[in-house]
Amino acid sequence: MTAFPILLAPGDGIGPEVLEEALKALAAVERRFGHEFQYERAVVGGAAIDRHGTALRDETIEAARRSRALLFGAVGGPKWDDPGAAVRPEQAILGLRKGLGLYANLRPVRVNPLLIEDAAIKPEVLRGVDMIVVRELTGGVYFGKPRKRWTNSRGRQAVDTVRYSEREIARILRTGFELARGRRRKLTSVDKANVLDTSRLWREIAVELAREYPDVALDHLLVDACAMHLVTHPADFDVIVTENMFGDILTDEASVLAGSMGMLPSASLGARGRGGAGMGMYEPIHGTAPDIAGQGRANPIAMILSVALMLRHSLALEAEAAAVEAAVDAVLADGYRTADIEAEGAAVVDTARMGTLVAERLSA
Ligand code: IPM
Ligand code: MG
Repeated sequence: MTAFPILLAPGDGIGPEVLEEALKALAAVERRFGHEFQYERAVVGGAAIDRHGTALRDETIEAARRSRALLFGAVGGPKWDDPGAAVRPEQAILGLRKGLGLYANLRPVRVNPLLIEDAAIKPEVLRGVDMIVVRELTGGVYFGKPRKRWTNSRGRQAVDTVRYSEREIARILRTGFELARGRRRKLTSVDKANVLDTSRLWREIAVELAREYPDVALDHLLVDACAMHLVTHPADFDVIVTENMFGDILTDEASVLAGSMGMLPSASLGARGRGGAGMGMYEPIHGTAPDIAGQGRANPIAMILSVALMLRHSLALEAEAAAVEAAVDAVLADGYRTADIEAEGAAVVDTARMGTLVAERLSA
């Protein structure tokens, strides 16, 4: 039996709580499928600032490189929120993404039919929603130089830079095309080509690449129109591919479709090996939720579904991934809910109970 080395980075707020529940699911996978996961733990984010004076240590990047996958909770919190601070918890996420070359962020948005009736959006709009947003993760305004603040005679000034190279754009678009090929063969490239040069380059390259993927229908949507379309006709989307910041914003919006931020997992991937598997970072798209941290109210499902993505994309264990997803569906079908997805007649359970229920389903 080969052991899979996995790095755990729980982080701050509800990060550690939801990660514990994901480990229950992994323990159930070990027993049922005869695998062994070998864990190493890393302190990241605010916790690392308190302990080491930095959100991300070089050792952590090294440890991630030695691992098959990184399970990441969430980082940040009011304690470290001073806008003037040079050291910030978010530097952990950004540093890991960049340091590990994880340029492709996959954010699947599936609407569980069981949650449709109680959603904020009309049931008829939500029916059939099943999309993946592919967000570019190591370029754009998040990393462009120059970025700085200064003061001159006209007052305080600041600059951030959006920069994209042909290579960065082409590789993320390819991720989108390839994913669409395995699904409904529809790719929506989202940009702001009516204003931005980076977007015009993006669109030009998308059109060129489309010739290599004649089986995939490509269309283009401006990001503002996409924001609207996401809530009016979300079921139209199959795969969306977009740049870093647009993807950040659109996926928070898309999480409302799934009923709660607490439902959405994500995978961050780099260049893939021959078998298609490679080191990846897996995290819920929600943050640290300081308002409910430590109260057992967090929904662990996004973290548990991130484990499913890890099994699928980094460990090439598809049956195991599907089993985790099926266990989550089964627990919801049994009428269990965490507070964020509370519904008429459902049993509201705490974080730990939800984790145990999913693990029990997996073992059954
Ligand atoms: C996300 C988060 C991060 C981002 C923050 C915490 C830096 O919002 O993963 O979507 O902006 O990428
Ligand atoms: Mg975000």
